Amino acid sequence: MSLKLKLIGYPIKHSLSPWIQTSFLERSGLEGSYRLHEIASKEIFGEEMKKLREEEVNGFNITVPYKQTIIPYLDRIDITAERVGAVNTVSLEGNEWVGYNTDGIGYVQALRDKFPDMDRNIDVPILILGAGGAARGIFHGLIQAGYTNLTLANRTKSKCEDIMKGTSASVITLAEAEKNIAAYDVIIQTSSVGMEEAKQIVDLSNLKAGTIVSDIVYQPLVTQFLKQAAEKGGRIHYGHTMLLYQAQKAFEIWTNKNVDVTGMDEEMITKIK
Ligand code: ATR
Repeated sequence: MSLKLKLIGYPIKHSLSPWIQTSFLERSGLEGSYRLHEIASKEIFGEEMKKLREEEVNGFNITVPYKQTIIPYLDRIDITAERVGAVNTVSLEGNEWVGYNTDGIGYVQALRDKFPDMDRNIDVPILILGAGGAARGIFHGLIQAGYTNLTLANRTKSKCEDIMKGTSASVITLAEAEKNIAAYDVIIQTSSVGMEEAKQIVDLSNLKAGTIVSDIVYQPLVTQFLKQAAEKGGRIHYGHTMLLYQAQKAFEIWTNKNVDVTGMDEEMITKIK
């Protein structure tokens, strides 16, 4: 059987997902295709979904701006996608379209693969900075992976409270985070601060050497935040791996195969424009 897979979104012409998923098909010895399916406007989204049902695709990824638009067209969504309120992966299971969100769990897997000590310790104190869509995905990815000691900090505190509802996570201010930064072994920077200018969401003067410091920015962009973390002896991690590992988790949902991604991280950096 040849697998029919797709990416839906707009614009997606420069997406690395076709390269990633085609490599996965080759690496796992499966036959199939992963094609782009651009939907240029929300008005035609419903018709396009009808066509897609008729094509009987085995699965698809869904990206901006449709990660929420897709939800009413699905038969079921899994608990993480429900908590995040967005879907990036759909799988045909029997006659049903089932929605998942693999962004957060993918990011967590990237961290665990790179830092085996984090992989072994589910009680590790983790601080998430920012409370936008990316933070929401990563937070629920950490919950799904079983991490128990989570703290959220954001300029607007109420957004943290909304994300952590129903869990035992803590919420603190950015000033408290800055003061107590040495209390955390893993710090994940998810905000847009510092992407375009030399600003930081918190100062890392008190950072403990050896702390894992992750920023969702794509390498090769080096933010002021990561520069200071490196100077303080932090172990640095970049966000582009989220794309690779969310894809690995999606592929696993479609095929039941856990594909080996060795070497793809480095190759991917050469392709990021
Ligand atoms: P995304 O969906 O990509 O995660 P977003 O929803 O726009 O992005 O979220 C941006 C994050 O950056 C938010 O946490 C935002 O803080 P607020 O919730 O208080 O707005 C944070 N952010 C942006 N500019 C900031 C600034 N100058 N100082 C502190 N936080 C900032």
